[in-house]
Amino acid sequence: MGHPATAPGSGTRLRVVACGSVDDGKSTLIGRLLFECDSVSSDQLAALTRDSRRYGTTGDEPDFALLLDGLEAEREQGITIDVAYRYFSTARRRFVVADVPGHEEYTRNMETGASNSEAAVLLADARKGILTQTRRHAHILSLLGIRHIVLAVNKMDLMDYSAERFARIAEECDRLAAKLSFASVVPIPVCARNGDNVTTRSPRMPWYDGPVLLQHLESLDIDGGSETKPMRFTVQWINRTNAEFRGYAGSVVSGILTEGQEIVVTASGVRARVNRIVTGDGDLKQAVAGQAVTLVLSDEIGISRGDILTLPEWRCETADQFAAHVVWLTHEVMLPHREYLIKFNSRVVPGRITALRHRLDPDSLEQVAARALEMNEIGYCHISTREPVSFDPYRENRETGGFIIIDRQSNATAGAGMIDFALRRAANVHWHELDVNAGARAGLNGQKPCLLWFTGFSGAGKSTIANLVERRLFAEGRRSYLLDGDNIRHGLNRDLGFTAADRVENIRRVTEVARLFVDAGLITLVAFISPFSAEREAARESFRPEEFHEIYVDTPLEICRARDPKGLYARAASGRLKNFTGFDSPYEPPLKPELVLRTAEASAEELASHVIGYLRTKGLIP
Ligand code: ADX
Repeated sequence: MGHPATAPGSGTRLRVVACGSVDDGKSTLIGRLLFECDSVSSDQLAALTRDSRRYGTTGDEPDFALLLDGLEAEREQGITIDVAYRYFSTARRRFVVADVPGHEEYTRNMETGASNSEAAVLLADARKGILTQTRRHAHILSLLGIRHIVLAVNKMDLMDYSAERFARIAEECDRLAAKLSFASVVPIPVCARNGDNVTTRSPRMPWYDGPVLLQHLESLDIDGGSETKPMRFTVQWINRTNAEFRGYAGSVVSGILTEGQEIVVTASGVRARVNRIVTGDGDLKQAVAGQAVTLVLSDEIGISRGDILTLPEWRCETADQFAAHVVWLTHEVMLPHREYLIKFNSRVVPGRITALRHRLDPDSLEQVAARALEMNEIGYCHISTREPVSFDPYRENRETGGFIIIDRQSNATAGAGMIDFALRRAANVHWHELDVNAGARAGLNGQKPCLLWFTGFSGAGKSTIANLVERRLFAEGRRSYLLDGDNIRHGLNRDLGFTAADRVENIRRVTEVARLFVDAGLITLVAFISPFSAEREAARESFRPEEFHEIYVDTPLEICRARDPKGLYARAASGRLKNFTGFDSPYEPPLKPELVLRTAEASAEELASHVIGYLRTKGLIP
């Protein structure tokens, strides 16, 4: 279907994101803009008139809210979220409006709709004024780097076009603007339904002497956008069609790249010259922001997927720790110290939120202490990645300063972030290679150091079996150490309780300690409930495959409850113990453990022998 708004308007393009809940009249406002700018075909208009009589709320008048439902929504490729893009143009400008619905997952939609917009129209109902949701939206828009805000104070008809009412909301709007850093914030009184102050000045509000909505959007002065920023080229893949051709496919995400220019790989500092800029339609002399091209360089240099190429005098930063704003986008709470995947342009690396410095209160916009982030909350975090990544601070470059946080279990987008600055802490601390290393110690001990990770419910028998295994090892002259949950919680982890966040940190610390013990050459046993698969998987990845052995002590909850060695099940059942695993705190059984020990079917002694046998068949002990 031909889109009604492909007619080119002159002048620059303005991308506008429209936010508000359905009840604020957002659809009506956008429908009205499209209609009055002649971006609605006669067919659509006929259908609209028909539908309006049938379903509309406006009597014989067309109900513009219905227009949007009828228009084919253009959706961003591959992303199944509800952002629809509408196009229209006037003699002065072309417009793309990202229509962001205001339901529960609005933050996610705003991220998509706003991330490349220059301006935003925030809807407010004249009867209600500025609401928490409006503040939250404004805040997210400011974090996303939107420069211009229009507060469309809609439904002025329901307030009798009252100048006082509008003045009060405009004052509130000023107070909000003072807390955020926009280039402009302009409140405009409108009635979308009747078309007051949308594209033409309303005779019903003679007291209003500011611009009408369309005129204001037409006159917004936006800087040249990403083309005027320093050049950034992100490498997506390496193209080796044959022995003669080696090209780096990717995108110029900001600035302009010219043939012959010298570039540098930010992460390594290696330089080369751009010999060719290749596209499917032949070579280019120049590529500008937004263009996907393949570069042929003067020298064979080390470049990998996700690298950022820049001009030598305008390099970006490279770090493995940084401070960032994070917007949380999913129902699963964000847990500091949990390992997630973090996606920067085309590079994905494992990383953690090492500190949640504060959360932003959506009403006051003040910083408040927080232990975790819930859906739609915004936090200021320190982030640590396993490998260094290249970036710019988000305020300097939206293309290279943002990232997405991916849940390792579900692979879903869990959050989005905006980098503030690099934390240099670790950069001055270097890894020291030691002469007496794990291999040397292993030889001396006549064993292969490894980690036996026992997981299961409280009372499953983890400690009992691990203890028996260690006794057998000791009797054979093996060197070992047992890290037991209860014991470690008396010292190193005595500051931790049993919330999900504390359990994540509990396991992170014991993983680090276990790494040292394995490096010390010991057969290391960990006996922790370790209820979350994400943390057990992160532990696994901290070791070489031959070192890590997950042992699931599989005891049904009923049996643990009947055994109740510490009386904790009785306390949990009577409500005196909170966050108890198997009651109000979950246990995620391992999917692919190396060993499963069923304590209901064999004695602890037999199961310990089974583990020793396993160690022997794996060649870990002689
Ligand atoms: S973990 O979940 O963070 O891995 P960990 O193994 O360190 O737990 O500690 C579990 C031990 O703490 C249990 O064996 C039990 O004795 C004790 N405990 C006390 N309160 C709780 C609770 N709410 N949930 C689970 N274990 C608890």
